[in-house]
Amino acid sequence: MYIILNTLYIVLCTLLLLLLNLNSIMNILLLGSGGREPAFAWKISQSKDCTQLYVAPGNAGTSEYGINVNMSATDFDAIKNFCVENDISLVVVGPEDPLVKGIVDYFADDEEIMHIPVIGPGKEGAQLEGSKDYSKRFMQRHNIPTAAYETFTKEELEKGLAYLDQHTLPIVLKADGLAAGKGVLICNDREEAKEELRLMLAEAKFGEASQKVVVEEFLSGIELSVFVLTDNYHYLILPEAKDYKRIGEGDSGLNTGGMGSISPVPFADEEFMKKVEERIVIPTVEGLASEEIDYRGFIFIGLMNVGGEPYVIEYNVRMGDPETESVMVRIQNDLVDLFMAVADGRLSDKKIQIDPRHAATVMLVSGGYPGDYEKGKEITALENIHNSHVFHAGTSMKDGKVVTSGGRVIAVTSLDASKEEALNRSNKYAEQIQYEGKYFRRDIGKDLMNY
Ligand code: AMP
Ligand code: GLY
Repeated sequence: MYIILNTLYIVLCTLLLLLLNLNSIMNILLLGSGGREPAFAWKISQSKDCTQLYVAPGNAGTSEYGINVNMSATDFDAIKNFCVENDISLVVVGPEDPLVKGIVDYFADDEEIMHIPVIGPGKEGAQLEGSKDYSKRFMQRHNIPTAAYETFTKEELEKGLAYLDQHTLPIVLKADGLAAGKGVLICNDREEAKEELRLMLAEAKFGEASQKVVVEEFLSGIELSVFVLTDNYHYLILPEAKDYKRIGEGDSGLNTGGMGSISPVPFADEEFMKKVEERIVIPTVEGLASEEIDYRGFIFIGLMNVGGEPYVIEYNVRMGDPETESVMVRIQNDLVDLFMAVADGRLSDKKIQIDPRHAATVMLVSGGYPGDYEKGKEITALENIHNSHVFHAGTSMKDGKVVTSGGRVIAVTSLDASKEEALNRSNKYAEQIQYEGKYFRRDIGKDLMNY
């Protein structure tokens, strides 16, 4: 009798364990292929809850932490089939494109996949990034500090030109829609501003994106990026960061996908961040909820610090690139645990745990980038890098060697007690890594040394 009971007990325990194990299987799909995704992939793959990470389409960087899937981040039908076939329990959206195109609504409207949480806002919420005019009107409705503005359509060109006659210089012109980071013009000359407005509205300089143009007051100050994770009602403020977008030192030359980032930002002290929270974060989250806009994901608030007062330059509905590299290494929470809390509306149970150390990211790029550049250059000396992160972006394997395959090649991210030490280490490794045509900015974070 005892033996039978004992055997039964063991069988039951085994079944229970198996069931628990089955329950905890969590396959996660990350969408995107930029410099931000390897940092996300690194962090997600560390989660105790992550069984298998897939990244679509991913890049050489993401394949270190998960399985790359050859599927576009905006091919919703293919994504659905993949999720069903691979028992995906969570989708994390890296870039804005799938969000603006409505991936969250697509999942919510389909019985087969509606149970799978997708981290990101619905189509309406994604308009905060998809339309500058929409985001300005949202800020106005909720008294969120931002630059004064007017919006003009093609039919209103004459009115717009007259408005420019009265406008103080410089004048900021913004194409309403997504324009791959190129849709903002800052004009120091009134005639130039008029010509640009005409080109944007009458000649579709940025295609559909410039069917409407926001004309905005110029804000003078220093910028930073604030990141919020929200479940639509509660929020966590993630580590803030500063990015360096231009190719040349001293922030000169063409815009790039991002040349480096620093976190924390010295001027984002307690007093400043309190203003950001009270005047911007709370009204934004409450505004979304009060307008019943489905928003469960990241809010990236591009801010200008104007003499100690925060103003919103723009919202993005995703994490920043290359800020993510510096932000992820400072978040100590299990990211998947936070994502599940977002999905279940339990974010108020969570506290953000931030590593107090400083993160510095230096991006190595191909010679010629953001213009034309050559690919296939062998990268050496990667084995010299210890206690810093190497987030590959534009690299691939060829004949057993790591070679360049994109404009932005590798991000080196270091964490240290001070930003000087973190920067020294990232710069040292950036110097040591070798490939033909290598370029990186040696002045990342230098503008912050006096704060
Ligand atoms: P955006 O595409 O909205 O991020 O704008 C690109 C860049 O233009 C920002 O990162 C700022 O450096 C600059 N910018 C945008 N709006 C303004 C403004 N109102 N005043 C000053 N600079 C601005
Ligand atoms: N770092 C700015 C952006 O991701 O748009």
